[in-house]
Amino acid sequence: MEQELQHRRPTQSQEADAGGSGRSEAPPAPVTVVGLGKMGKALTSALLKQGHPVTVWNRSAGRADEMVRQGATAATGIDAAISASPLIIVCVTDYAGAHGILAPFGPLLAGRTLVNLSNGTPEQARRMAEWAAALGADYVDGGIMAIPPMISRPEALILYSGSERAFERHRRAFDAFGTSMYLGGDPGLAPLFDLALLSAMYGMFGGYFHALAMVGADNVPAVDFTRLVIPWLHAMIAGFPRMAESVDSGDHATDISSLDINDVGFDNLIEASRGQGVRLDLVAPLQALVRRGVAEGYSSDGLSRLAVLLRQPAEPEADAEKPA
Ligand SMILES: NC(=O)c1ccc[n+]([C@@H]2O[C@H](COP(=O)([O-])OP(=O)(O)OC[C@H]3O[C@@H](n4cnc5c(N)ncnc54)[C@H](OP(=O)(O)O)[C@@H]3O)[C@@H](O)[C@H]2O)c1
Repeated sequence: MEQELQHRRPTQSQEADAGGSGRSEAPPAPVTVVGLGKMGKALTSALLKQGHPVTVWNRSAGRADEMVRQGATAATGIDAAISASPLIIVCVTDYAGAHGILAPFGPLLAGRTLVNLSNGTPEQARRMAEWAAALGADYVDGGIMAIPPMISRPEALILYSGSERAFERHRRAFDAFGTSMYLGGDPGLAPLFDLALLSAMYGMFGGYFHALAMVGADNVPAVDFTRLVIPWLHAMIAGFPRMAESVDSGDHATDISSLDINDVGFDNLIEASRGQGVRLDLVAPLQALVRRGVAEGYSSDGLSRLAVLLRQPAEPEADAEKPA
C-alpha cells in the first residue's frame, strides 16, 4: 500500500484566525467534546484556548466543572451536547463506550460530523463509520499520538482518516490539538497507524524494562543506567530508514549485522538473564523469531528480515523468496 503522508500544520494565518484576533473571516466554530477523562480535558482546553465555543458532556457528573471554569458549557444531557455543535468529538476509553453513549440519540447526528478519538481497531472504526453514514453524519476517525500535556503543541501528532470533506471543514478545530495528519478515506487507517505506532513504542518499552531488570539485579540504579539507554536507542533508531528500505525492496543483505550473529547474542542474553533471575517473557519471543529466521535459511540477512517473517503466515507467496 502506497501512502502519501502529509503533515498538516496550522499556517500562521490559521493560528491568528483561530485566536479570534479580529482578522478572522469567521469566528471559531462550536465544538462538542464527549468524554472528559485526562485526554478529553486536554482536548477541551486546547479548543477553548483557540477561541472555540465548547460544549462538554461526561458520563460521571463533576468532571465538567473544571472545564466550565475554563469557559466550556456543560450540557445537561448527551442529546443537548450533540445538538449544540456541528462537530462532535468523542474521546472515551473504547468504541463500545462511544457507541453506547451516542446510540440512544443517533438520529441527532444527522448533518453533523462525528469524530471518534477513542482507541480502537480498524474494523471498529469502519463499523462506526457505516453506522454514522446510515444516520446521515460525516465520520472521521482519529488516533492521538501524544499524551495529554503535549496536546496543543506541534509535537502532538493526531492521525485522521475517513471523510476528507469533514476533515477539511473542521481542520481549524483539529489543528488546535497539535499537528493534524490526514491518512485517507478508509476510516480504519488512523487506528491502524495508531496501533502500529503503539506497537513500536511498547516494543521499545519492553526492551527497556528487561534491561532495567537485568542490571537492577546487580543493584545498578535505573536512573544511572537510563543515561546509557537513551543515546544507545537513539543510535540504533538511526538505522531504521535503512531497514525500512530493505523491507520495501525485499533486499535484506547486510554489511552491518546478520541474523546468525544476533542468534548467538540472543543465546547469551537469555543465559545472562536467567543468571540475573530475570523472567524471559519479553525477550523469548524475539529470540524465537531470530532462531526461525536462521532455521529457515536467512542467517546472512539483516534484522530487517524479521519484519517479513512476522507477516509470513498471511502472505504465503513470501515463501518464494526463501533460498533453496
Ligand atoms: N491518556 C493518554 O495518554 C492517551 C494518549 C493517547 C490516546 N488516549 C486515548 O484517549 C481515550 C481516553 O483516554 P483517557 O486517558 O482520557 O482515559 P481516562 O482518563 O481513563 O478517561 C476515560 C473517559 O472515558 C469515559 N468512559 C469510559 N467508559 C465509558 C462508558 N462505557 N460510557 C461512557 N463514558 C465512558 C470516562 O467517563 P467517566 O468519567 O464517567 O468514568 C472518562 O471520561 C482512550 O481511548 C485512550 O486510549 C489517551
